[in-house]
Amino acid sequence: MQSLTIIRPDDWHLHLRDGAVLARTVADTAAQFGRAMIMPNLSPPVVNTNMAIDYKARLDAQNSSLTALMTLYLTDQTSAHEIQRAFDSGIVKAVKLYPAGATTNSAAGVTNIENTYAAIAKLEELGMPLLVHGEVTHSHIDIFDREKGFIDQQLGPLLQRFPKLKCVFEHITTSEAALFVADASDWVGATITPQHLLYNRNDLLVGGVKPHLYCLPVLKRNTHQQALQAAVSAGSHKFFLGTDSAPHAQGAKESACGCAGCYSSPAAIELYAQAFESFDALDKLEAFASLNGPDFYGLARNSETITLTRCDWQVPSSLTFGDDIIIPLGAGEILNWKIEA
Ligand code: DOR
Ligand code: ZN
Repeated sequence: MQSLTIIRPDDWHLHLRDGAVLARTVADTAAQFGRAMIMPNLSPPVVNTNMAIDYKARLDAQNSSLTALMTLYLTDQTSAHEIQRAFDSGIVKAVKLYPAGATTNSAAGVTNIENTYAAIAKLEELGMPLLVHGEVTHSHIDIFDREKGFIDQQLGPLLQRFPKLKCVFEHITTSEAALFVADASDWVGATITPQHLLYNRNDLLVGGVKPHLYCLPVLKRNTHQQALQAAVSAGSHKFFLGTDSAPHAQGAKESACGCAGCYSSPAAIELYAQAFESFDALDKLEAFASLNGPDFYGLARNSETITLTRCDWQVPSSLTFGDDIIIPLGAGEILNWKIEA
């Protein structure tokens, strides 16, 4: 196969940040995707509808073709009333749960899930999705076990309590998560990043630490990577594209305490194509990238298409990022598919 035309994909999990870097982050995403679900972990976080409206205005001011779908950052204080306001705004499409301390800018996240029951009950009533960063944060739980711990201790019980809650288990990284989602009701879906399909913890750690492969949840062992590959290869409608592209300047990544996050937006669909071809599932790419997400969210599929052409090209080794430099995911690597401009 020399070219592949698919319905224009959407990115169902994306960090664009704010300020001067938006020129880069919004344009990079708009070059590939029609819509994106914009994560709210700014500092300060996007905790109410007015902040989401203002943030969307700053994104729209970039005058790109990207449709920004906004999210609210769930806190212990988020009221059912605020959820209703967000829903009524028409621009907030989902609410993001960060366990406090789990990841970048999660300090204001949820300390005890019980504190959010009123807000979650309202989400369930409205059919508005809860997007979950699924990791427990107790210091005695090993970082590689935090996703499984979250399923057992938090997500399983939560979905039993709210069986009609629409829920996306974001950036899943383990066989346990893939199995949990496959076995769950149709109210439950999951996003999978390019890095968790392409790499495992050996890529992160063997031969030296690769800070640009460090993200959260952290890359797991190869058997988990294979389970994610099997999940998307099986063609289930429950799994869809969410890059979790999370830009940090080069200096913040290559540091004594490096930030978590991979900047995949500039080559996102090409990285997914590379991954899918490597496990012989290119025929499943379109549903994963362009159909399953909008179907889950109850939104129309995009009407445009994009074309990927087989051609070797090298991912740039660095890019400008405001006044700074950023190293994209796959920097310097040769990819086999390129999106036609
Ligand atoms: O690696 C990550 N980076 N994981 C997250 O959950 C947050 C993200 C970020 O915002 O940098
Ligand atoms: Zn994220």
